Amino acid sequence: MRILIHEEYDSLSKWIAYYVARKINLNGSSPDNPFVLGLPTGSSPLGTYEELIRLNKAGKVSFQNVVTFNMDEYVGLPEDHPESYHYFMEENFFKHIDIPRKNINILDGNAPDLEKECEEFEKKIGEAGGIHLFMGGIGVDGHLAFNEPGSSMTSKTRIKTLTLDTRIANSRFFDNDISKVPETALTVGLGTIMSAEEVLIIINGYKKARALFHVVELGINHMWTGSMLQLHQHGIIVCDDEATMELKVGTVKYFKEIERHHLENLPELSS
Ligand code: GLP
Repeated sequence: MRILIHEEYDSLSKWIAYYVARKINLNGSSPDNPFVLGLPTGSSPLGTYEELIRLNKAGKVSFQNVVTFNMDEYVGLPEDHPESYHYFMEENFFKHIDIPRKNINILDGNAPDLEKECEEFEKKIGEAGGIHLFMGGIGVDGHLAFNEPGSSMTSKTRIKTLTLDTRIANSRFFDNDISKVPETALTVGLGTIMSAEEVLIIINGYKKARALFHVVELGINHMWTGSMLQLHQHGIIVCDDEATMELKVGTVKYFKEIERHHLENLPELSS
């Protein structure tokens, strides 16, 4: 896997936004051949979304022919609840860009039949031709989407019970009241993410250092689900210096050296 270590969050966010915009532009602009993008919520991608919005407004990238699939959604929160992932995506990204509404796919955590909702989501990804680029963040316990420790590495979209760790971590968005954090969520599976042509994971800040260490320096292990990236043909981690605190000095030096050129230059927006 590739690991790009930026000095700080702003340059990491800008770099990822240019990387995504470049991929969209390279795919061309035909409704018959949309670029299929997997998207996360959380604080990690916020800077990337801001930069993508700027690029869209500046006419450097268009989302007219982009189809999106979000990773996850809480079960039972109304869509207009400020902490629902529907609301998050609308406020932080979709309402600011030129994406057609019909191209947006987010799991419905209030569907009458949640299992059917998950099956249909997988079907829709298949009908769209699969995901070209799945972007994600990571939990402090190394989870991708809501694939908590112990998740099957081949799992598909399904209902998951959230761990206490995750509910405590996410309670900061719910008045620090863990009882307000839903106990279950719908999430794409690790197998769903692995089926994407490319997977890019954003890992920033000291609190993610342990997760980065497990994902990069230890073996593939279902207790740190992000480690499955080691098996992906095109896995990229984009992190900041803070997140590398638990890595060996040699590991950091190695990846900084081999990615030097890419770290010094933003991805070109056109070929
Ligand atoms: C939640 C989401 C994950 C996200 C994680 C980390 O649990 N389901 O997709 O990666 O939080 O969030 P943050 O980026 O805010 O640290």
